[in-house]
Amino acid sequence: MSQAATSTANANANANAGLRDVPAAPSSICWIDGDEGILSYRGYNIHDLATHCSFEEVIYLLWYGKLPNQSQLDELKGKLNANMSAPPEVLGLMMAFPQNAVPMAALRTAVSALAFYDPETNDKSFEASQRKAMRLMGQTATLVAAFDNIRNGRTPLAPRSDLSFAANFLYMLTGKEPDDISERAFDIALTLHADHEFNASTFAARVTAATLADIYASVTSGMAALSGPLHGGANEQVMRMLLDVGTVEGAENWIRTKLANKEKVMGFGHAVYRTEDPRATHLRRMSEEIGKRQGNTQWFDMSKRIETIVKEEKGLNANVDFYSASTYYQLGIALDLYTPIFGVSRMSGWTAHVLEQYSNNKLLRPRSDYQGELGLTFVPMDKR
Ligand code: COA
Repeated sequence: MSQAATSTANANANANAGLRDVPAAPSSICWIDGDEGILSYRGYNIHDLATHCSFEEVIYLLWYGKLPNQSQLDELKGKLNANMSAPPEVLGLMMAFPQNAVPMAALRTAVSALAFYDPETNDKSFEASQRKAMRLMGQTATLVAAFDNIRNGRTPLAPRSDLSFAANFLYMLTGKEPDDISERAFDIALTLHADHEFNASTFAARVTAATLADIYASVTSGMAALSGPLHGGANEQVMRMLLDVGTVEGAENWIRTKLANKEKVMGFGHAVYRTEDPRATHLRRMSEEIGKRQGNTQWFDMSKRIETIVKEEKGLNANVDFYSASTYYQLGIALDLYTPIFGVSRMSGWTAHVLEQYSNNKLLRPRSDYQGELGLTFVPMDKR
């Protein structure tokens, strides 16, 4: 490349730092209008889906491109239930993990290991990949609950075929069937986290899929990318922040000091939205409703106060992670499971994207914005 062409390429790459607003591949799964705050899955607005659909309907929608009728939904539920049990070998592997293993790392390792026990791992046909997506969807939930039981010295619970996906997860996690309100709140949270276009983890999954690596390898890449605090790891950090703030009265001083020190506040800002993240609208309401039902709105009140000040001072909006933190906390879920739960939900989006990538594949291979030197004269070892 000539020097002029190189500098043009560099200027373009700088303009696209972080690949912002660069369409990397065609997709028909998810659409976001960041200026208007619109999120839609397969053409349906997230507000309608979160209000009217179950998570199982959303899984069907993401995979097959349309909302299911009753018999299609029943069939999907039957297949999910039939595929929820994790292989005993993988549960045994988890028992050998250190008790203090980070759950997200435990989940990433266990999901990767599922490939060893799937008789269709080496069948790369599209139909086999669809069946593997079903198994991944069911088993990931079971693995998260199993790991929490194992590290707390309890025997993992087998999934039940009479419960919804959301209720089954909460049952396996706590040993108790959730009440209707907790089940619905969790179900909505799963719907809200299910897909988000070419976010970092989905893009990582698609990059791996585009090499024609199998679906287990692809979603393991996604899971690794989700773990970071700038992506799925933010929800846990938000709750740690709220616990550190401690009181509603202390929130203002705490957050003003943080902003004055130019520190990042987890749960705010977004690479695409310039308005309210539409998912935050539902999670804010759920955080408040659960707090009111439990007779303690301190986590919601504290969050609201922080949100007002961050908006006032920095013009930043709350994102999906901000109110999911207090929602999960009030549902009694351990802090370090928030990100794995994000992974349980996002498995639906990752698998939909991997299948879409397989069906119209092109290796994803961008160029680097090279900033180094060129044309240096080689220096032999004894002259360096
Ligand atoms: N707290 C404080 N300041 C923030 C901020 C936050 N959460 N998010 C962005 N900003 C500020 C940056 O410091 C930067 O200010 P500067 O221009 O004075 O340096 C400016 O806003 C742009 O930030 P940048 O990180 O470049 O924005 P982005 O659009 O590339 O980043 C995120 C998007 C999500 C990575 C970023 O907002 C962030 O780190 N948020 C916190 C982590 C989080 O909640 N992640 C979950 C996302 S769903």
